[in-house]
Amino acid sequence: MDGERDARIAKILSAAVAAPSGDNSQPWRFVFRAPNTIEFHAIPEKDNALFNLDGSGTFFALGAALENAILEAKALGFEPEVVYRGEGSLVAALVLREGGMLSGAERELQQAIPLRHTNRKAYKKVPLTEDDQRALLAAAEGANGASLSLLEDAGVMAPISRALTTMEETALGNKPLHALFFGSIFWSKERNDAGEHGLYVYTLELPPPARLFFKALRHWSVAKAFAKIGFPKMVAAINAKQNASASAFGVITVDRFDRARYVEAGRLLERVWLAAAARGMSLQIVTGLLFLARTLEQEAPAGFSEEERALVREAYARIRKNLGSAEEPFLIFRVGYAEAPTAVSFRKPPVIAYAD
Ligand SMILES: Cc1cc2nc3c(=O)[nH]c(=O)nc-3n(C[C@H](O)[C@H](O)[C@H](O)COP(=O)(O)O)c2cc1C
Repeated sequence: MDGERDARIAKILSAAVAAPSGDNSQPWRFVFRAPNTIEFHAIPEKDNALFNLDGSGTFFALGAALENAILEAKALGFEPEVVYRGEGSLVAALVLREGGMLSGAERELQQAIPLRHTNRKAYKKVPLTEDDQRALLAAAEGANGASLSLLEDAGVMAPISRALTTMEETALGNKPLHALFFGSIFWSKERNDAGEHGLYVYTLELPPPARLFFKALRHWSVAKAFAKIGFPKMVAAINAKQNASASAFGVITVDRFDRARYVEAGRLLERVWLAAAARGMSLQIVTGLLFLARTLEQEAPAGFSEEERALVREAYARIRKNLGSAEEPFLIFRVGYAEAPTAVSFRKPPVIAYAD
């Protein structure tokens, strides 16, 4: 054991695990291979299969973690080299050599790693400043086969926002999705402080009366009764309005739907999110519908009626039509200006295996 080396590796991996992951699933593990390599391994089973076609959600999260690790390694004086792997659990190896340093722009991103959190509040309905818009786009530059566009036209954002909340509309009326959604939410501060997988209810930013009602909705019999009187549609309409209060939607596209591009898209989003955090901006990924639509289309899982499949398919088609581009969106987020989140999620400390 080498104390100083181990302390630096621990710092790099603490930064890595601060990355976003679906429902805070933290689908990663790490191996330090002497003399100087950190391996990033994926655990796709930690993410729910309905939202993880081809491991897309898992590899995306690994990309975000890798980006944080690269920034932190440079801050510690390393010149990291990334070696990607196309199959198996090993996604990338980070080879650390002495002699690196952060550029000014990278330092701004690295310092924002602890400041980056999901913010699910309503945002202030104001346009992006030109400077902020430029900074977000600049952070997305240079990605290999993944790119970002910002959508700021309220007339286009509104229908896309409503199509995206077809996610909630479906989840509140479908038994397997309902079980999955409520199964991922917890009410315990202790569990959140311990960095457990799942969503702490206060991070959902429900208004207090809705929070009480939400507890009752955990029971499928209650949700089902409310679904019969159109409750899911009502929630979807309210959430769509709230999401469209953002200054912009960010749309990430990839030139191929494969593992390398999911990782690249994750790296891109992490840089953009850090740039946003550094500027005091707020961001929320709002992409469940896109991920679910691709799974339903390609894997036809059981538990969905033809009507539900059609609802999701049509919402996906509406998003594509309103985007008006030939390119399929991989992931959508909203970005803008808001009060700080009521609560943020924490992480399990990274587990590091040591190997020769
Ligand atoms: C692939 C992926 C998909 C996600 N989808 C959503 C989503 O649809 N809605 C949402 O509110 N958050 C979504 N998230 C954000 C995670 O829930 C969030 O990153 C995680 O709970 C950790 O919280 P933090 O971002 O505050 O660190 C997604 C994250 C990833 C990586």
